[in-house]
Amino acid sequence: PVIHLIGAPTDIGAADRGASMGPEALRVAGIDRALRAQGLTVLDTGNLIGPHNPWQPPACGYRHLPEVIAWNTAVHQAVGDALRAQALPILLGGDHCLAIGSLSAVAQHCRAQGRKLRVLWLDAHADFNTHTVTPTGNLHGMPVACLCGKGPQALTTLGGPAPQLQPSCIRQIGIRSVDAEEKRLVHQAGLDVFDMRYIDEYGMRDAMRRALEGVDADTHLHVSFDVDFLDPDIAPGVGTTVPGGPTYREAQLCMEMIADTGLLASLDVVELNPAFDERNRTAEVAVDLIESLFGKSTLMRR
Ligand code: ARG
Ligand code: MN
Ligand code: MN
Ligand code: MN
Repeated sequence: PVIHLIGAPTDIGAADRGASMGPEALRVAGIDRALRAQGLTVLDTGNLIGPHNPWQPPACGYRHLPEVIAWNTAVHQAVGDALRAQALPILLGGDHCLAIGSLSAVAQHCRAQGRKLRVLWLDAHADFNTHTVTPTGNLHGMPVACLCGKGPQALTTLGGPAPQLQPSCIRQIGIRSVDAEEKRLVHQAGLDVFDMRYIDEYGMRDAMRRALEGVDADTHLHVSFDVDFLDPDIAPGVGTTVPGGPTYREAQLCMEMIADTGLLASLDVVELNPAFDERNRTAEVAVDLIESLFGKSTLMRR
């Protein structure tokens, strides 16, 4: 399929400013060139527009809720348009709150097409906070909860009546930072989490094999790639680094095993923050990994 790059230059849901520069950093790192080198057709649709970041404290447990709604509405529309045009959307974030817009469009599309959905959430964080338990009010810590129906109505109903996602279609990988109350909610929802403890004990191969169990030709596979999934040694350019993440090799294997399914149908690349990066090296690592996600391999030819 044709790949549509959709830039969403905002840090509206984040703890730090700077993820708004993510889309351009990925372009500078050559994301379009890298995908074209794989024989793919790429259309860069440019950047969405939305409100600037007013940098306010939380109100009723949410920071910048009206602006987050505006950005996610734009993302929902653009990702939905791409899917309806039979393209494979890549959302260039932007912070992770934007996954509400992209996944609500993906879920709506899957319902319309009668396709199954599997979501791989690659992240250091569970992003399952709600306004009552969030320690920060930052909406990038809440997208999974919103998609599962817990959150402000304007966000939970973006793709139709809530919930957009059943917890049973989500697999979280690389998790190593979950807030105290958030932990309770994760258990309550029964989220399937392959945390770093699991990866240490059983390896990335086993984690991915299990996370991909049950996907078949009828499955739309969505990857939500929060760049802070990666160990900060290889990916310092994010706002919320957490030590002890996947190494370069582990992350490559993760992407390769997803590519092997041939089912990838939509992707978010979020939380890249060039203000924290060193000479764009995190964007370059992200592009390397995305090449693998789209099937680049050392010896095999597609
Ligand atoms: N759990 C923390 C919070 O709610 C951090 C969330 C980080 N999320 C992210 N997408 N980087 O504020
Ligand atoms: Mn994260
Ligand atoms: Mn829609
Ligand atoms: Mn995240």
